[in-house]
Amino acid sequence: MPLRVTVVGTGYVGLVTGVCLAHSGHLVTCVDIDRDKVDMLASGTSTIYEPGIEELLSSGMASGNLTFATPEKGWGELISDITVVAVGTPMAPNGAADLSAVRVVVSSLAEAADRPFTLVMKSTVPMGTGAALRHRYLDEAVVRIGYVSNPEFLREGKAIEDWFKTDRIVLGADEEADRALMRELYADIDAPLVETDVASAETIKYASNAFLSTKISFINEIANLCDCIGADIDAVSRGIGMDKRIGRDFLKAGIGYGGSCFPKDTRALDFIATLNGYQFTLLKSVIEVNNRQRLLPVVHVMRALPDLHERSIAILGLAFKPDTDDVRESPALDIVPLLAEQGAAVRIYDPIASELPVAGAARVADIWQALQGASAAVVVTEWQEFRELDWERVRQAMAGPAIIFDGRNCLDADAVRAAGLTYMAVGRKGEHRFGMNA
Ligand code: UDX
Repeated sequence: MPLRVTVVGTGYVGLVTGVCLAHSGHLVTCVDIDRDKVDMLASGTSTIYEPGIEELLSSGMASGNLTFATPEKGWGELISDITVVAVGTPMAPNGAADLSAVRVVVSSLAEAADRPFTLVMKSTVPMGTGAALRHRYLDEAVVRIGYVSNPEFLREGKAIEDWFKTDRIVLGADEEADRALMRELYADIDAPLVETDVASAETIKYASNAFLSTKISFINEIANLCDCIGADIDAVSRGIGMDKRIGRDFLKAGIGYGGSCFPKDTRALDFIATLNGYQFTLLKSVIEVNNRQRLLPVVHVMRALPDLHERSIAILGLAFKPDTDDVRESPALDIVPLLAEQGAAVRIYDPIASELPVAGAARVADIWQALQGASAAVVVTEWQEFRELDWERVRQAMAGPAIIFDGRNCLDADAVRAAGLTYMAVGRKGEHRFGMNA
């Protein structure tokens, strides 16, 4: 049966949630305080780059299942039986999750509520937040407001697929009535339900992202060791990933994780642990390894080219991973300023990401403009376009010693070398081997 749903926040998570629930037949209103965003969405144009989202946006609006609104007409009007909170929880300067937007929305909803409803928390909030919000706002309301922690596990670029083909749906609630409503909401999705209390659901979200980040930092440590001892990380990853207990995914070595989730959530979890008197030593190392890993290209380029003045360096890729225009916490943001400070002329090329959040570098629209005369090129993002490059032409375009630093271990090393370029990567077999500690 279709349910009435309000989704507050039309950022990445909120918009995907809204269009997917509308596709499942629910009657969804997406709310955002940003009038321009709402107008753009209401005209059928997506505010984010995500494969498949435009189609779901148009079909949702055409069927009448999907509408957009600002809170101007009053929260009371906007509350539905299921009201999902999907506003941002960015990182505060101390590493904690900034919950100010969540608090504003939850308090506004609690004040305006004149009939019972279930509040579903999809924003990533630290453990204990659900209990605190209920105590401070929801229990004060004149009507019953149920609370469900329902974290998302959406990868950028694959969010629609992840929504409908998720490995599990986590429902953290203390009352059966709220869980029953949530089962109805997700009735068409064939996935196991993990029904638990609110604090456990909140923990599942952070623990999942922390574990995946741990896998990445672990394989990066092994890759660095491979560089020191002469082993090959591709073979090692394949060999260990075949053990089903370990699994193949997230064993791709390189210059570390970025994006809107892993860096923020690992730091927030470390903060929560510290605040609760617990030193999460393993997690601290995961973060430290990642911070160091993203500097690898700078270390290697500076070793190979001690004086970067008068040198051009091409940065291939700005997005934190391919198939997205998202540059948040991309390793490029650390690499580019450091190279520029050393005097290099840095030219960045990315097929989609247009934002240039760093000073001291130029963004060029054509990859050959970036490569022309460059002494080194650093692959930051594993775009397909880079894998298919004509390496002979690259060699002709670049200046000596024509270093290709493959920060994502994604290129055909033999083809790069065969063209006379100097190939460097992270733990891959070859003549250029520098472990970070070597
Ligand atoms: C992630 C989680 O996968 C998702 O479940 C969560 O809800 C949000 O955060 P996303 O940030 O979109 O999704 O990216 P993901 O594809 O998981 O990759 C994250 C980062 O890890 C990227 O920078 C990627 O390049 C890096 N990565 C991933 C590796 O370095 N090696 C790997 O083996 C896998």
